[in-house]
Amino acid sequence: MNTVDRFIHGFDGLLRTVTRVKPEAHNPSPGRGALDDPMTEDEIKLSGGLMRVNHTGEICAQGLYNGQAVFASNPETAEALTQAAAEELDHLAWCRERLDELGAKPSLLDPLWYTASFALGAGAALISDKISLGFVHATEKNVERHLKEHLKRLPESDHASRQILKRMRDDELRHGEEALSQGGEELPKPVQRLMWEGAKLMTTTAERI
Ligand SMILES: [Fe+2]
Ligand SMILES: [Fe+2]
Repeated sequence: MNTVDRFIHGFDGLLRTVTRVKPEAHNPSPGRGALDDPMTEDEIKLSGGLMRVNHTGEICAQGLYNGQAVFASNPETAEALTQAAAEELDHLAWCRERLDELGAKPSLLDPLWYTASFALGAGAALISDKISLGFVHATEKNVERHLKEHLKRLPESDHASRQILKRMRDDELRHGEEALSQGGEELPKPVQRLMWEGAKLMTTTAERI
């Protein structure tokens, strides 16, 4: 894909987010075939809120990776970022499938989060590929930390959501390491902390709306 193709691809991602098109997974959800323990109404509500947050997180991942791919200076970096976005599409599809099962809806603010993430990704890429990949590393580290917190909060009876998050945690850890091995530069700690605080704004909002 060239720059224009990538830009169109990124815009297509926004349209899909706005129209809430269900993404197609390449691999079946790890939640399929999970133990089906009965859940109380409160547990279903809690799980729905948490999985809405994780779904929005994956919308952000699409925005970030697509934005970064448009302005990557090295074609190999651009290709790796497009590839990563394709892998993240599975995460998005699994979260969406689970949301549907829990009778919950995606966040109303998803188009806004996609756009903001796309701009952030594009901005990082415009600085340099090294910073852009360092940004991926820092983001994935934050996501991994966040997923650990959610695994503590999810009801024990919600085996399907737990299996999805565990698989995502392993994938995000790998994505972060790959970004460093592709030449990413570890971002300064204060920047990483700022990113964590920014992400918290999204997670607390998306749990409700
Ligand atoms: Fe992901
Ligand atoms: Fe990831």
